[in-house]
Amino acid sequence: CGIVGYIGNQEAYPILIKGLHRLEYRGYDSAGLALITDGGKKLNVYKTKGKVSDLERFSQSKDISGTIGIAHTRWATHGEPNDANAHPHYSQTENLALIHNGIIENYSVIRAELESKGYVFRSSTDTEVIVYLIEYVQKTNRVDLCTAVQLALHQVVGAYALAVIEKGNSDTIIAARKSSPLVIGIGKNEFFLASDATPIVEYTDEVVYLNDEEIAVINRNEPLKVVNLNNVTVTPEIKKLAMNLSQLEKGGYPHFMLKEIYEQPKTIMDCIRGRINVEGNNVVLSGVIDNKGKFINASRIIIVACGTSWHAGLIGEHLIEEFCRIPVEVEYASEFRYRDPVITDTDIVIAISQSGETADTLAAVELAKSKGAFIYGICNAVGSSIARATDSGSYIHVGPEIGVASTKAFTGQVTVLSMLALTIAREKGTITKEKFESMVKHLQELPEKLKKVLEKTDDIKELSKIFTYAHNFIYLGRGYNYPAALEGALKLKEISYIHAEGYPAAEMKHGPIALIDNEMPVVAIATTDRIYEKTISNIQEIKARKGKVIAIVTEGDTLVCNIADYCIEVPETVEEYAPIVTSVPLQLLAYFIAVNKCRDVDQPRNLAKSVTVE
Ligand code: G6P
Repeated sequence: CGIVGYIGNQEAYPILIKGLHRLEYRGYDSAGLALITDGGKKLNVYKTKGKVSDLERFSQSKDISGTIGIAHTRWATHGEPNDANAHPHYSQTENLALIHNGIIENYSVIRAELESKGYVFRSSTDTEVIVYLIEYVQKTNRVDLCTAVQLALHQVVGAYALAVIEKGNSDTIIAARKSSPLVIGIGKNEFFLASDATPIVEYTDEVVYLNDEEIAVINRNEPLKVVNLNNVTVTPEIKKLAMNLSQLEKGGYPHFMLKEIYEQPKTIMDCIRGRINVEGNNVVLSGVIDNKGKFINASRIIIVACGTSWHAGLIGEHLIEEFCRIPVEVEYASEFRYRDPVITDTDIVIAISQSGETADTLAAVELAKSKGAFIYGICNAVGSSIARATDSGSYIHVGPEIGVASTKAFTGQVTVLSMLALTIAREKGTITKEKFESMVKHLQELPEKLKKVLEKTDDIKELSKIFTYAHNFIYLGRGYNYPAALEGALKLKEISYIHAEGYPAAEMKHGPIALIDNEMPVVAIATTDRIYEKTISNIQEIKARKGKVIAIVTEGDTLVCNIADYCIEVPETVEEYAPIVTSVPLQLLAYFIAVNKCRDVDQPRNLAKSVTVE
């Protein structure tokens, strides 16, 4: 979910709507807003199922005046996406309105308790219980809103970023955070509030990231005040934003996803910039160098991540084991955190997360930390919760990724993992000088090679037409290209809603081969590497059963192209970087198939980009 708030001299409504559009990637099942107007006398709440544009239509004929307001775009957890479950939620007397991102775990207990006192709930959300509870506490203890929020939150178990406003008080927003992100923008006589900095950047570059269990009292006439749950005042740390507005706009592309696919030659360049020396023969990842001893002596590295970031982690496993000879395990953060894993203080845990806010990954980091492991973060969002919770780390520096399906973040993550493996290997002495230098040279050539891959766009667009109406897809790859196959299948599923499975090519014969017939498209990644011939045999097995093979091959390939039905060539690189070049045509294939099917490419159904609930 995404939350936005505004208080100042301007009309709040347009700022809130614009902010919701910027945050829509976080969820788009329903949207709503609350405004205080008429000298504080009115607290208007408008909300509806659907997207932010539906909310705009819904509010058209309504009173949208007011210089204080809060707004929300939802990704449903408790309760289906409908009007009643949309945020903001009113308190029982309709004196308070509240928006919330997160999950209240003990909501049923609180709800039952309040119901026994005669409260009647209007929705089936966990959020509504908080606003009812705040009002109950406020009434029974006769305290102000901030104190009521403080006392209520002592009873709440779970994760929250919330904001609440009160009828009769048009000067103050109260906001609080625990495990869900919240940023406050500080303008001139105005304040902004949001789940991330994207709705704020066009108004101010001064922000405060609220920490866990902190409450902000945002009063239009006073400096920002922050207290913790025990009412101890905390001095807010003001940070400068590095983001710029053009990064948040489509810049002539029909979708953010296509823009982000096309940005990859530049984002890979940004990712390696400053990390390769001027002579071009050395890679220095400072987070690794600063903690050299830890990496050299690590007995094991555990990579935790979700979704696309987990796929990048699988490539990291290959890279680190090959070059650094350190055993690596890659785990879904959601599994890792609940299975009582064995972790020691000689383990290094690497958390990979584009948003830096994924709840499961953050929890996995906290768990590993409590067991004494050294935690390294690979994040994109600067200042995000995971970036702040880790001991050290490297940003991927690919700029804001808005399309829900991750593209440039994936290639950036793999690039950082490559540099990480190379830096450790050189320090540990587990890589030869020749291999190291060749890897550094090939790394610098990647941006140009990606430009060449993008020249294939029209061919891929044409190819996509042939397969738009397929019901299933299989993606195959081996070695470094196996995770690229998983990622290719995930892209297609996410945005076209076609069922797709990624599989290690040789494992195919142990089951999935039963699915092959003349209607099954099989995307086979078969660039030249040490197992190229083996992959060709696997492709033969598919062809023998009349599957339709779309092969991703190295420029100049003839062997695979002779057997495959369609071939997409990518420039040659070392096999360790193959997934960076082979994943781009797969992103484009998924993109065009989804466009042909008129899918909502940037905001596919049921998904959210930043999953801040477990
Ligand atoms: C969501 C997104 C995916 C992403 C995953 C992990 O499911 O839709 O695209 O890969 O979260 O996100 P993270 O921000 O931690 O990389």
